[in-house]
Amino acid sequence: MAELRAFAPGRVNLIGEHTDYEDGLCLPFAIAQGVTVTAEPTGGREVVVEAADLGEADRFAIGEERPAPNGWRAFVRGAAAELSAAGHEVRPCRLRIEADLPRDAGLSSSAALTVAVCLALLGRDDDPDRVALARLCSRVENDWAGQRTGLLDQLASLLGRDGRALRIDMRGPELRHVPLELGGHRLAVLDSGAPRALAASGYNERRAECLRARELLGVEALRDAPPDPDLPEPLASRVRHVVEENARVDAAAAALEAGDPARLGALLGASHASLRDLFDASTPEVERAVEACRAAGAIGARMVGGGFGGSVLALFPPGGQPPPGALAVEARAGARLL
Ligand code: GLA
Repeated sequence: MAELRAFAPGRVNLIGEHTDYEDGLCLPFAIAQGVTVTAEPTGGREVVVEAADLGEADRFAIGEERPAPNGWRAFVRGAAAELSAAGHEVRPCRLRIEADLPRDAGLSSSAALTVAVCLALLGRDDDPDRVALARLCSRVENDWAGQRTGLLDQLASLLGRDGRALRIDMRGPELRHVPLELGGHRLAVLDSGAPRALAASGYNERRAECLRARELLGVEALRDAPPDPDLPEPLASRVRHVVEENARVDAAAAALEAGDPARLGALLGASHASLRDLFDASTPEVERAVEACRAAGAIGARMVGGGFGGSVLALFPPGGQPPPGALAVEARAGARLL
């Protein structure tokens, strides 16, 4: 096995937030920025890892991976362990991790890291089904890093295509690429800078509420719930968000197909209002970032990812100038060997 390099991108979810773990719909795209992992074969029976941008390192014996306290090591060890458990051969090597994707900005740096490590460890001859690989990476996040996240980030990173968004129906999942043509409009993300300390607990709390609503309604997933369920608050509002957000995903895909960026902008705004008012996942910093984008001329802006901080996505008209610090984002190809 010669040295090889694997790249996995971060993602932006155009719309369809807090729907993936309720069997719902999402419309993410992979971005240009991501994580690159170089694998150099070695002897012995260890994987030696260097996180170049952090100046940190790790090493573990293949087949004897132990959980690491949360942080990048948990993802690397988990990826190696889950690949072995799924019957893939993990060979001894030296891994070097480099990233040009901001961490903790809600752009799925952890999914990008896990996917890139998996592709680097799998090598050129082992090319598993990408949906199965997304599920494996999601197990790493759930079981090794203790984040009860869904499948959105991993599918987007693995299955993104240049110039396309990916409509995902999590029931299946069923996947359909939709041209992301915006008629000269541009998308940009702005990091809210909110402290991420509460993000994981807020996310897990919302998931627990959704689960409770599901049990009370006797449905398999909230996508099957009525939009106006007979439930106490805040559960009724949580359900309404999920049901209406699913409808907005199809409306957004239709707006893209019809070449109607104004309609898309309005849907982004409606999604944000719902995440703020019905799902209660915003923070003052996120609201300020949305306002900054609107003040700069955005025709739609909303929080992306799990909320409680992270980045805001905004749609700017032709010639519009995103606010200082914003990062222009475009749909690019998904994870690959370089
Ligand atoms: C995070 C999770 C995803 C998804 C989003 C919310 O990004 O990793 O699985 O639940 O939040 O849409």
